[in-house]
Amino acid sequence: MIDVHYTPNWLAKAMIELLPEGTSSVGDFCMGEGALLEAAEARFGQAAAYFGSDIDARAVRRARAAHSNWVVSLADLLSVSSLKSSRAWSPDSFDAIVLNPPFSYRGGSGALIAVPALGTIRASPAVAYVDNALRALAPGGTAVLLLPANTLSSERDRAWWAYARGRWSVTVELTSGPRDFPGVVARMAVVRLSPRLDGVALASDPMQAESAWGRPLSIVRGRVPVHSLGRFSVGSDDGVPFVHSTDLRGDLQIHGRPRVVARLGTRGPLVLLPRVGALKQEKIVVWVDAAPIALSDCVFGLRVPVEQVVILAKQLRDRADLISGRYGGSCAPYLTISRLSELLSELGWDPAHVGAQA
Ligand SMILES: C[S@@+](CC[C@H](N)C(=O)[O-])C[C@H]1O[C@@H](n2cnc3c(N)ncnc32)[C@H](O)[C@@H]1O
Repeated sequence: MIDVHYTPNWLAKAMIELLPEGTSSVGDFCMGEGALLEAAEARFGQAAAYFGSDIDARAVRRARAAHSNWVVSLADLLSVSSLKSSRAWSPDSFDAIVLNPPFSYRGGSGALIAVPALGTIRASPAVAYVDNALRALAPGGTAVLLLPANTLSSERDRAWWAYARGRWSVTVELTSGPRDFPGVVARMAVVRLSPRLDGVALASDPMQAESAWGRPLSIVRGRVPVHSLGRFSVGSDDGVPFVHSTDLRGDLQIHGRPRVVARLGTRGPLVLLPRVGALKQEKIVVWVDAAPIALSDCVFGLRVPVEQVVILAKQLRDRADLISGRYGGSCAPYLTISRLSELLSELGWDPAHVGAQA
């Protein structure tokens, strides 16, 4: 596990001092063994409820064994579906959130984050954890975060902090020297996000933030191999049109396409993209119709309600370069379902793989 640097007690206590009097629920979604929640409990005692999760099963077991009064869950803070099924995380719910997240992940250098008004932005891993944690903060709540100090000045996180400053009052409360943490060379900062005094944060519509995030999306992997087309083809008035990755170019032209037996159809609406082959902007194509089409096994279909199809297609087209970097393979590039799911989660969707049947 990377970045498992638990917060020392003195620092946990200092962070908890930054929460307001009267805090009645505290969440930590990278809780480790619970150093921050323990400090919170030392201050607020039974006047507050404590909710913690972590991706590390051993840490979760230990925290659960030591704190039977807390709600503790195993959950991945970067996965929408994992958070939704967690007992410890729920949207817009907590008075206080504390977080000492990993500063990096999977060797990855950056994350995509969907934020209201700005659309999809790129940010550092630490900010990606923070952004998902903050979705659980109730309007009017306070968050105290331990972050690498460079996130506050880095070009990469500038857009996210601009968004955060619009929503909360952001104050840097403490900064550490480079070696104050055993084994960590980075300088760190304790940052507090509290309600803006002008009340703008409350007006910034948490409902909108929520509705723009965590929307269900079905991933369909096409199943008709192009070389077996002959076996399934039917006359021009029957069946459903067959769509191969080479047909993905701007507008989807259905007329004159080969047609295959109806049982191979997948109902729309769908955003289509190649599973195999180079991804370019124009290869992200929209099928707004509910009528079924048969997808070649080189194509992915993403099903969302019709009013979200264009939003999704635009979001993907705007990120075509980034997405093409997720295709692997030494010969023809291809995208796996798990990488596609991961990417869609980063963009704020809640993806699930479903069968291709209509
Ligand atoms: C820097 S430690 C902080 C732990 C604890 N909050 C503390 O202050 O002592 C980061 C924690 O994040 C957890 N973590 C790493 N990736 C995670 C993820 N994707 N979702 C949830 N927790 C994660 C690690 O297991 C680790 O316990």
